[in-house]
Amino acid sequence: MNILLIDCSPRPNSHSRKLSAAIIARLLAVDPAAHVTRRDLGREPIPHAETSYATAISSPGELAAWQSDSAVRLSEQLIQEVEAADVLVIGTPMNNFTVPSVLKAWIDQVLRMGRTIGAAATGEKIGLLQDKPVYIGIASGGIFTGDHAKQPDFLIPYLTAAFGCVGVTSLQFFPLQATAFLDEEQLNADREALISTMDTTNIGRTMLGAAQ
Ligand SMILES: Cc1cc2nc3c(=O)[nH]c(=O)nc-3n(C[C@H](O)[C@H](O)[C@H](O)COP(=O)(O)O)c2cc1C
Repeated sequence: MNILLIDCSPRPNSHSRKLSAAIIARLLAVDPAAHVTRRDLGREPIPHAETSYATAISSPGELAAWQSDSAVRLSEQLIQEVEAADVLVIGTPMNNFTVPSVLKAWIDQVLRMGRTIGAAATGEKIGLLQDKPVYIGIASGGIFTGDHAKQPDFLIPYLTAAFGCVGVTSLQFFPLQATAFLDEEQLNADREALISTMDTTNIGRTMLGAAQ
């Protein structure tokens, strides 16, 4: 099993990094031989869509001319990292009700018309990537989901739409909330409770499907 781990927090002692590490540990318990590749957006942010990339994807005719440009090559590299993975693990903070800009920059380079997104004759978008399990650990300072939510949530619906657009629909979310208010002991207990709900049954199925 190849796991792509994407961490988005710039903080060393980050709650979302601890969450993603706990998700990885659970996956390694299922498959001790699994290989983990890291894409650390928090510590090594990728550039936002640059002039050349934005121009290249503005029309299919433009893309051919810009194919060897470094910005387009980065997009291709990021997409190939996703394609090479059987499972994705994302650790991300909630920033202003949604994903941090480092993760948005990644999304802008992975969701690409004609490469990861196709178009039906009717004009609807069709995802061109193979579905795979995506485990997403979210750390938020306040509460954004459940009966005690105090703020809107544009993170879970956004990631669901973004991944769905490229054909990846097997998402599981693990929100560790109120990091600004709870002590370490409570947060550790909450993290363990979240990880205990992790469903790993579809991992084998996805890999079997890919091998057939
Ligand atoms: C720029 C910024 C925006 C934030 N926006 C929100 C927010 O909208 N809602 C929220 O609950 N917490 C918000 N927070 C708090 C973080 O989600 C919280 O500190 C979280 O634990 C950070 O993740 P980390 O521990 O993995 O670094 C924000 C923090 C920063 C730095």
